[in-house]
This record gives sequence, structure tokens and C-alpha cells, in this order.
Amino acid sequence: MITMKDIIREGHPTLETKAKPVEFPLNDETKATLKAMREFLINSQNPETREKYELREGVGLAAPQINIQKRMLAIHTYDEKYETFHDYLMVNPKIISHSSMETYMPGGEGCLSIDRVVEGLVPRYKKVTVKTHLYDVKTDTLKETTLRLRNFPAIVFQHELDHLDGILFPSKIKESLPEAQPIEFKNIENESEEENL
Ligand code: NI
Repeated sequence: MITMKDIIREGHPTLETKAKPVEFPLNDETKATLKAMREFLINSQNPETREKYELREGVGLAAPQINIQKRMLAIHTYDEKYETFHDYLMVNPKIISHSSMETYMPGGEGCLSIDRVVEGLVPRYKKVTVKTHLYDVKTDTLKETTLRLRNFPAIVFQHELDHLDGILFPSKIKESLPEAQPIEFKNIENESEEENL
């Protein structure tokens, strides 16, 4: 199982390296990694397992963050209105189109590979169309899919995709984004300002 000791931190060369495409068919090791990445996010979001294994809460994880230089990532989160759950294991994802409109996290972004608060706004496309293979752990199948993501799930995806290209969010910070609209989260209890992507 993945814990914080498996997650490499800023300064590690893998986080600055472009990851390589995953070859098909997926081998057993790759499948096990994908499953463990998803389980890490689930454990990090459950208060009991989060405390027991001393995890930081996260909604996304990219393979380079566990020092695996492959183009795959996990997302496990509600959208900003807490209406639709987005549970993806993506293999070789690509943005095939995007909006011109930009958005951003009003409290800034956080990252499991960055152990400090980094203030500032990160511009992200408000909508992205993604072509990817999705791995389904329950059926052990891989399916090529086109996904349309908007707002918070689109931000999470773009943050994780950057990890596959060796980019960390602090390098993308802008002082102000006059043209962009911030994500508006629906108020719920325990809402945190910062999200670890
Ligand atoms: Ni990150």
C-alpha cells in the first residue's frame, strides 16, 4: 500500500521529468500500481485510515509522484457542487480540446509532493476534453474513452497531467488572473480552503 513515505517531494528529479507512455496490454505490475494509487486516495479521504497511516488528504495522484515515470494518474473526487463523483484511473491521457476561458482555485493549489504552503493563483482551462484509456479495477478492463471535464475536476486533471510532463504548480503561478473566474465551491461542513492535488 502507498503511504506518504512512497511519495517523492519537490527537488526529486523524477518530478521534473516527462513520463513515458504506458504500453498495452497493461502488465500485472502496472495494474497493481493503478489500484494502489486509487486506494491511497480512498485511504487519504477516510478520517480513520488517514490518521492510522498518517496520510495527507488528496484528490489526485500521478505515477511520477511515487517515482514511476509512466503516464498514468488517479482522480477520486466530487465536483465543486458535490453532485457528481469522479473516479478515474487514466492511462496515457491527452487534452484534445479546451475552452479559452480559464478558472482557478480561489485558495490556491496544494500538492502531496510539496510540503509547504505556496500562495498564488494557477490558471487552468475551465473545460477540457480528454482522450484517455480508463482502467476499471473492478472488472480489470481498459477502455478508450473521451471525457469532458469542467471546473474542479478539470483543475485536478490538469494539475495531475502537469505531473506527467514534469511540471509542478508553483512554476505556473500568476499574480492576478483578471480574465479568469474562480471555482465556486458549494459550502459544506469541513470544507478546506486548500486542496492537495
Ligand atoms: Ni500534485
